Amino acid sequence: MKRVFLLVLVSSFLVGMGMCAKYLQPATASSSAPSSGSGAQFTPDGRLIRPEGYRRWAYVSSGFGMSYNPEAGGNGAPAFTNVFVAPEAYDFFQAHGTWPDKTMFVLEIYGSSSHGSINQKGSYQESLVGLDVEVKDESRFPDKWAYFGFNNSAKTSSAMTPGKNACWNCHDQNAAVEHSFVQFYPELLKVAYAKGTIKPSVHLAMGMARLEELIQQQGWEKTEPAYDEVKRTDASSEILKEQPMNLLGYRLLSASKAQEAIGVFQRVVKDYPLSPNACDSLADAYFAAGNKEKAAEYSRKALELLGQDTTDNAQRRANIEKAAKDRLLKLQASN
Ligand code: HEC
Repeated sequence: MKRVFLLVLVSSFLVGMGMCAKYLQPATASSSAPSSGSGAQFTPDGRLIRPEGYRRWAYVSSGFGMSYNPEAGGNGAPAFTNVFVAPEAYDFFQAHGTWPDKTMFVLEIYGSSSHGSINQKGSYQESLVGLDVEVKDESRFPDKWAYFGFNNSAKTSSAMTPGKNACWNCHDQNAAVEHSFVQFYPELLKVAYAKGTIKPSVHLAMGMARLEELIQQQGWEKTEPAYDEVKRTDASSEILKEQPMNLLGYRLLSASKAQEAIGVFQRVVKDYPLSPNACDSLADAYFAAGNKEKAAEYSRKALELLGQDTTDNAQRRANIEKAAKDRLLKLQASN
C-alpha cells in the first residue's frame, strides 16, 4: 500500500514537471509483471528482442573463470560473467525468496585481460563476448523458463529448443532457487536461506559466509555440529582451513562476540594442535573476554609451540612471539 501511494506521488510530481507520461515506468506495485523498460519483449514471431538498458538493472554478482565443462576456458584467459536482473524482480526476491513470473536475467560474458595500464596482477574485463538470457514466463513457455543467446551484435534471438535443452536441464537440476544459481550470488543467498526457498534437491556446501551467519544467529555451540558435518563430508572445504577460521574468529572478536570467538579459536586449536598462532588467537579472545588465567595459559602455550614450529616463516614467528609476550606483560601488570 505504502509503495503504491509513493508511486502515485512520484508520478504526479513528474507530470507536474511537464514530463511525458511515457517516461513514467510504474514499478508495478504488485511486482508480478516487470515494467516494459525491463520486461522481456518479443517480435511478432516470438523472438526475444535483445534486452537494452540492463546495465541499469540490479547487479546480482559476477563469476570469474567459472566453468561447468572441464574443456572450457582452456585459452588461459578466463571469462567474467556479470548477472543482472530487473529491479522489480530483485525487490520481489528480497520479499519472497522466489522469482516473479516474467523475470528476465541477463548474463554478460566478458573476455578478460591481465596486461594493461598499470595492472601488474589480477584480471579485468575487456571485451564483450555475448549475452546469455533466461526468461521465466509461465504463459509463453510450456517449460516455464526459456533460454536465449546473443552474440555481440544480434538484435533478436529465438528460444533454445527443445524446451528442455542443455541450458534448461543444468539450471533445473543444479540451480539453488528455481532456475537461478543463487548459490553463487552472496546477497541473494542470504535471502534464500532466510526464506527457506533453496530447492531440497540441491546440496549446498557450507561456505564461510554461511558459517559466519549461523554463528551470528545461534552461536558457535549450536553451529559446531554443522562444522563437524563438513569435516566428515567435504575434507577440502575452505572452512576447515586454519587461516580463514582464524580470520572469522577475529571478525567475531571485533563484533564484540568474544564468547563466539573463543568457541571458534578453541576449535582451531583442537584441529591444529601444533599451531602457535591458533593458541595466540585463543589467548587474544580470552584476554578480550577478561579471562586472564586462560589468556596467560594460551599465551605461554603459543610461546612453547613456537620452539618446534616449522610451518610459519621467521617474520610470522617473530610476530606471534611479540604478541604473546606483550600480552603476558600486560597480564602481569594488571595483577
Ligand atoms: C552445466 C550447467 C549450465 C549450463 C549448461 C548452462 N548454465 Fe547458465 N548458469 C550456470 C551457472 C553455474 C550459473 C551461475 C553464474 C555464473 O556462471 O557466472 C549460470 C548462470 C546463468 C544466468 C544468470 C542467472 C541464473 O540463472 O543464475 C543465465 C541468464 C544463464 N546462466 C543462461 C544460460 C543459457 C542461455 C544457457 C545455454 C546456452 C546456460 N545458461 C547453460 C550453469 C549452466
